[in-house]
Amino acid sequence: MAFASRFLFSLAATLLVLDALSGTSGQLVSTGLSIMFNDVYYYISPYSSGKLVISPTSLSSVPSVYGFKPVTVVQEAVTLSGIPSLLSNWTAIDDVFQPAFSEAIFLTGAVGFSVTKPDMADGSSSLVLPLSNPTISSGPYFLEMATGSLYPVYRLYDDFAGAFTEALLQTPSGTFQPLSAHIPGSASLTVGVPSRLYFTKTADKPLAGVRIGVKDIYQLAGVKNSNGNRGWYNLYPVNEVTGTAVQRLIDAGAQIVGSQKPSQFANGEEATADWVDYHSPFNPRGDGYQDPSSSSSGAGASIASYEWLDVALGSDTGGSIRGPAGVQGLFGNRPSHGLVPLDHVMPLSTALDTPGFLIRDPALWDIANSVLYGDNYTSLADVTPKYPTTIYTVGFPTNSSSSLAAPILNNFVDALARFVGGTVSALTLEDVWKASRPPAAGNTTLSQLLNITYATFISKEQTALVRDPFYADYAAVHDGRRPFVDPTPLSRWAFGDSLSDSALDAAISNKTLFMDWFNTQILSLVNEPVQCSSGLLLYIGSSGGQSPRNRYFSAPSPPLGFSTGRISGMAECPDSVYPLGQISAKSSITGHEEWFPVAVDILAAKGCDGLLARLAKDLAAAGILPVPEVGGSITGGDILMKRRAEEKGLRMRYIG
Ligand SMILES: *[C@@H]1O[C@H](CO)[C@@H](O)[C@H](O)[C@H]1NC(C)=O
Ligand SMILES: *[C@@H]1O[C@H](CO)[C@@H](O)[C@H](O)[C@H]1NC(C)=O
Ligand SMILES: *[C@@H]1O[C@H](CO)[C@@H](O)[C@H](O)[C@H]1NC(C)=O
Ligand SMILES: *[C@@H]1O[C@H](CO)[C@@H](O)[C@H](O)[C@H]1NC(C)=O
Ligand SMILES: *[C@@H]1O[C@H](CO)[C@@H](O)[C@H](O)[C@H]1NC(C)=O
Ligand SMILES: *[C@@H]1O[C@H](CO)[C@@H](O)[C@H](O)[C@H]1NC(C)=O
Repeated sequence: MAFASRFLFSLAATLLVLDALSGTSGQLVSTGLSIMFNDVYYYISPYSSGKLVISPTSLSSVPSVYGFKPVTVVQEAVTLSGIPSLLSNWTAIDDVFQPAFSEAIFLTGAVGFSVTKPDMADGSSSLVLPLSNPTISSGPYFLEMATGSLYPVYRLYDDFAGAFTEALLQTPSGTFQPLSAHIPGSASLTVGVPSRLYFTKTADKPLAGVRIGVKDIYQLAGVKNSNGNRGWYNLYPVNEVTGTAVQRLIDAGAQIVGSQKPSQFANGEEATADWVDYHSPFNPRGDGYQDPSSSSSGAGASIASYEWLDVALGSDTGGSIRGPAGVQGLFGNRPSHGLVPLDHVMPLSTALDTPGFLIRDPALWDIANSVLYGDNYTSLADVTPKYPTTIYTVGFPTNSSSSLAAPILNNFVDALARFVGGTVSALTLEDVWKASRPPAAGNTTLSQLLNITYATFISKEQTALVRDPFYADYAAVHDGRRPFVDPTPLSRWAFGDSLSDSALDAAISNKTLFMDWFNTQILSLVNEPVQCSSGLLLYIGSSGGQSPRNRYFSAPSPPLGFSTGRISGMAECPDSVYPLGQISAKSSITGHEEWFPVAVDILAAKGCDGLLARLAKDLAAAGILPVPEVGGSITGGDILMKRRAEEKGLRMRYIG
């Protein structure tokens, strides 16, 4: 009796506990599955694309893992004999598909469950089965045998350049979750890309399947931001919404594959000394140890390193797209200011912040611009442009200069002038300003007028919009403590604190004086849409100089002074980087000759962004501009760090 009642008591207690937990138990969620197939790493998405009616026994010869079998869906109206050619085309255009997926092919129009074995390109054969679902896109899938559900395949890549802060899976509803996959890599993330075969570009979805990395200052629904600061990442929850700019890319079909490293709070930082919270990404060019520039550092390093990535969305306040594009030999654009709302993007200065791209393909550039800037962008892709014939150069070297980049830069200017039928004149901005400055400027020089303007904007605006609320939130959670902040933003913020409250008004008024002058006296809008700009202004983007990342610097200071790189920010006009070539020079890292990119910046009148993208495409087609490749140089080749001992027949060396 005593025993029985103790038993009943303990049973009741157990039931009570289970009851208390019942609301929270049983939430088993798949975050996807990582597998290896013929030595290639893949990830099976947890989001099904749809179901097939299958006869399990018909697939018994196909290998399986955890109940998933690799299969191929073909919606194209192709005959059996056309399949090998189709699949070999797929292998050429898609890095995810491999012929091994075609052991079982679900083909639209195939009748019954009869098995046909056409000879494949590689000599093997396939099962061809009827496709019962007309809505699933062509391409490779993993078929869950228990349910008939098809799951999309992602190929996994190592982020060896350290360009990403988080790898992301874009869900079918357009929100995001972290990609739960990891392959071998040295302290690096794994990024996954979906098969290109799932996507078809249309007028509505001009970026269908285009793989994009997004600077980790843009908010994406379901994702945490870092803004380059670990304290920020940990303090705040995941974002609930995606901002307008990135949402436009998603709506146009883009596949966002991850967030990418910015230097901290998008302030310019030099690798490596300034990068305390995160390690600076690696510039793959030359010796592989050059500063990738900032602040869109992950954007530039990734586009120069990864064939599997098409576009990076960066931002440019004072050179944050142009710098990384220049030193890595990529196309990159700082657009006209104000083309798209920057809601849900961390600000550096609202007066100067712009969203733009780093990219290798100039044709895709124009398409991406059209999507991002919408009605505020006029693509000249389908018209014959009338290029401006007035070409200015600022600060170009003479041919007698010792700069190895001089002939590349000067050859380009000559070729550009021939291409547009124009004439070139060298401008000294200070002289033109002195001769034509507005009365309100008195006798100030440009370097006086704009000496502290940029530093005033970014420090006054970012302290108020970002630092102060961040410090308050952090203190509230951490008993009054301050978060860690890298030396560069701290020195800039301290500069802002040293200025009077009226400094921002003075900055606006100085900027406006310069902008109105520049946009009337130097580059103005013309009343001819296919020309748009009265002229083009060129300055050096990169002269192939070396800035190795293993140097110690003096403490950072606010970015004072006026230079050509400030023109577009102050005048609000577009400023695009074009890669021109590269120079060979001895590297202090390798003690060997290496290739270093040379690039030019080209400005047009405010609102003429489409002209610069079209010019890039036309100059590339004419062979005047290179189309940059990924790798150790802009014409491709190994990234030095990635060369392998086996390639020289060397084995593992055991030491000690
Ligand atoms: C494969 O690509 C070639 C060249 O683009 C094309 O001519 C051919 O029709 C394609 N084959 C199939 C089956 O799509
Ligand atoms: C175009 O630019 C204006 C001015 O900056 C902005 O208010 C508007 O939202 C932009 N339009 C689009 C479609 O982004
Ligand atoms: C500089 O040299 C290049 C050829 O190397 C030539 O095309 C160009 O006209 C020269 N430019 C000047 C300003 O002398
Ligand atoms: C500008 O004019 C003021 C007096 O009007 C003079 O003191 C100053 O030196 C001048 N500055 C320059 C750069 O010429
Ligand atoms: C720019 O500002 C700094 C700091 O106020 C000052 O030291 C420097 O002389 C100024 N340069 C010019 C050209 O006005
Ligand atoms: C504005 O310009 C004046 C010269 O006219 C200069 O002394 C001042 O430092 C500038 N201020 C800012 C914030 O740009």
